[in-house]
This record gives sequence, structure tokens and C-alpha cells, in this order.
Amino acid sequence: MDWEKILDSLAQIREEAAAELAAARQEQQRELWRVKYLGRRGRLAQLTALLAEAPPAMKPRLGQEVNSLKQHLLNLFQERRPTGRPEKGQNLSFPGKEIFPGCLHPLTQTTRLMVNIFVRMGFGVYTGPDMETDYYNFEALNMPADHPARDMWDTFYLNEQHTRLLRTHTSPVQIRVMEKMKPPFRIVAVGRCFRRDPLDASHSPVFHQMEGLMVGSDISFSQLKGLLIYFCQELFGSETRVKFLPSYFPFTEPSAEVSISCVICKGTGCATCGRTGWLEILGCGMVHPRVFRAVGYDPETVTGFAFGMGIERIAMLRHGIADIRFFLQNDLRFIRQLSGSR
Ligand code: PHE
Repeated sequence: MDWEKILDSLAQIREEAAAELAAARQEQQRELWRVKYLGRRGRLAQLTALLAEAPPAMKPRLGQEVNSLKQHLLNLFQERRPTGRPEKGQNLSFPGKEIFPGCLHPLTQTTRLMVNIFVRMGFGVYTGPDMETDYYNFEALNMPADHPARDMWDTFYLNEQHTRLLRTHTSPVQIRVMEKMKPPFRIVAVGRCFRRDPLDASHSPVFHQMEGLMVGSDISFSQLKGLLIYFCQELFGSETRVKFLPSYFPFTEPSAEVSISCVICKGTGCATCGRTGWLEILGCGMVHPRVFRAVGYDPETVTGFAFGMGIERIAMLRHGIADIRFFLQNDLRFIRQLSGSR
């Protein structure tokens, strides 16, 4: 073995390696370079193995040189890690990749906004099952079997006897909460509801409601009015006008429907409000004495009010969404449009 020659070759390896590394532009080429020189069977490993056979007189010098070469190559490799500098042929004037960080579904955004208004006023938040019994959905809400008011809701029944069904509104949560709690309390309930409506621009067999219930002593209709006016103006702006019209629900007496001045035309009349200037957005009333009796409360001492509204409708008005089907289609273009408003 010509040890002097090996010593000379070290300088050559040093040059070659540097040139090759400089030429390695892609990560894959750099890795090949690393394996070739610094890998377990690479050039440096071979040289180190050779050292064992070197004559004692050569060993120290040869060892030093091999080590210094190895250190040099390691340094080179570290220094030439990709730095993010443009590679040849890269065009920095290209627009960057658009990153969509994700957002809440528009319905979730609106639900949270609505619920938060009531949470700030001390309301608790409750849920109930989507699958209900006839008792909770109808009977306890003052709609005995064959009551004509059941026709207000086209129901999906789950068995032949019609004792199990998909809830048509969130009002059964009123009953479930009252069975468990002692007045006074105030709660809202949110959830999915189901009605046998054909799907069109404004109807969906699956939709969401928010329910409210406040029970105590001396709860008055004027408190209900004040609360709902505040809610509507928080949601749609302080210039929103709110009006209460007499209505009918079996579980409230008296009952009212609440309309707000049209958010699109501000009350002058347009297609959205059917030229009336008003939009009906919720139903409400004082809890019917029969409902209190059904849960074991004494209607002589306990009073309360309840309200319920469709969440899709409110989200549609907030965002100017013309068709309820957009909520169900999973079209990311729809979701992304509204991603700015959490
Ligand atoms: N549950 C009624 C509906 O779905 C709304 C409502 C709730 C009305 C509470 C009055 C009181 O139409």
C-alpha cells in the first residue's frame, strides 16, 4: 500500500466532494452525496478502516488528516443546508399558495352568536334527544292525542303506534328541563329538529331551533318583550324594529309571533320580506298552566315564558343566504365565503 499516495488523495477527495455538493441542488442529491462521503460505507468510513493497517510511523499523521477531512465535509454539509434561497429558475413573483385555515360552519357561527347573547344574561344551555316520545313532543306540551294543533307539525314517526318520533321542535327540552329543575331558572336549548317538509329554497326536513325558557315567580309578558327586543337588536343591529303579533301555540297563553323590520330593505318592502317590510322570526308566549301541571309545578305560584326560533332562517337573514339548501350541500365555496365572520 502506498501510504503517501493515500495522503495525497485526501486533498483530491476534499475538492471533489466540495464541487459535488455545490452542484447538488435538490434534497435527494444532497442525500446521495451524504451517503457517498459520510455514510456508513462511504469514502470516509473506508479511509478510517484503512487506518488500522497503516504502519505505526504513518498512523498519527494519516489519522489527523482523515479526521480533519471528515470534519471539513461535515461542516460543508451543515452549511449548505437549504436556506430558503430561491433556486435557479424559481419565479418569486408567483403568488403564494393560498392557505385555508378552516372555519366554523355558518350555522354554528350563528348558533354561537345567538346562544352567547343569552349566556351573557345568565341563561344556562341545555340539549335534548333528537328522537323523542309522543309525550315530550306533544302530550306534555298540552297537545293530547288527536289534538288538531298537532297538524301544525308534519311529523316523522318512528313506529306504528306513533309513540316514538323525531322531534318537530326543541320545545320538548322545556319539559325535560322542568322535570329536573326547581324554579327559578332560565335556559336556552339548541338542536336539530325534523319535519316532513319537502326540501325547497326555504324548507328543509332537517333544521335547527333555539328554544328559551324562563321560569320563576312574577315573570311577566313585558319581561319577555324586553328580552326579545334586546336579543333582536343585538343580533341584527340597534336600529332594528321589533313587533309582537298575537298568535297561537298550545303550550303558551297568551302567544305571540315576533317580526323584525326587514334586514334587507330596512322596512320599505322588498322580495325578501314579501313587500311587507317585516320578517317573522320567532314564536313565544307565557307558559301554559297545563304545561306547568304536567311537570308538577303549581301554576298558581309559578309563572314563566318561552320562545322558539329557527336558526337557519336567522343565519340566512344575517348573511343574505337565499336558499336553505346551501347549509346541507357541503360546498366549500359556500363555507369559505362566510369564513371571515366567525
Ligand atoms: N315550538 C314552536 C315552533 O316550533 C315555537 C315556540 C316555542 C313557540 C316556545 C312558543 C314558545 O313553532
